[in-house]
Amino acid sequence: MNPVFPSILSTDFYDLKDKLSSFKRGGIEFIHLDIMDGHFVDNLSFGPSIVQPIRKEFNFKIDSHLMVSNPEKIIPYFINAGSDWISFHIEIKEGTEKNITMIKEAGKKVGLAINPDTNISELFPYITKIDYILLMSVFPGYGGQKFITGSNERVVSLKEKIRSLNPDCLIQIDGGINTTNTGTLHMKGVDLFVMGTSLYNSDNIEEEILKILKTMEGEKNEKAGIN
Ligand code: DX5
Ligand code: ZN
Repeated sequence: MNPVFPSILSTDFYDLKDKLSSFKRGGIEFIHLDIMDGHFVDNLSFGPSIVQPIRKEFNFKIDSHLMVSNPEKIIPYFINAGSDWISFHIEIKEGTEKNITMIKEAGKKVGLAINPDTNISELFPYITKIDYILLMSVFPGYGGQKFITGSNERVVSLKEKIRSLNPDCLIQIDGGINTTNTGTLHMKGVDLFVMGTSLYNSDNIEEEILKILKTMEGEKNEKAGIN
């Protein structure tokens, strides 16, 4: 699976089709949708109607990141719209278990998202029940923010817990991700990389995707002692 999950939050919607075509040519398989309700985060983005066109036209899989205060109400919209993966925030205390079951029973992959200031131990009771964890390396709400360096340590501690509880659970990271941090994050245990700004700021998206993948190769070879 291509570990780069482009977020379209920060794209210029005027040329979304071009961007999606470049992602396709660059071998991208998943598109990350940042769904914001203007309440859980002080920004409003887009709704379920965007899922089908992207899925149908380009045959991408859709990973919907729900930054919403009432996931129990919003999840069915994204299940019905055809989202393949759905994550919602652990900070919403009510109904975590029920929401996980709702997503799984619909045959989708389920993830729990966690903000940079929430203790990762809040995730521990659910690690055996979910497919991935979305570790926010910025405070949710906007693209183009600076990577919070403390995220590295959170990855290491989370990976340790995952190894003991559910090795199949993937770590996805989101916020301020670019070629300066993908190699190290991959080495520390991140599996999937949500990226927006760093892709749109590059002068060639396909080349940027290759550069990102190379940073992970580098770490792998280093680990294996190959230079
Ligand atoms: C924040 C969003 C962003 C976006 C990617 O709520 O989740 O993290 O996906 O952001 P950048 O532009 O930093 O890659
Ligand atoms: Zn996101």
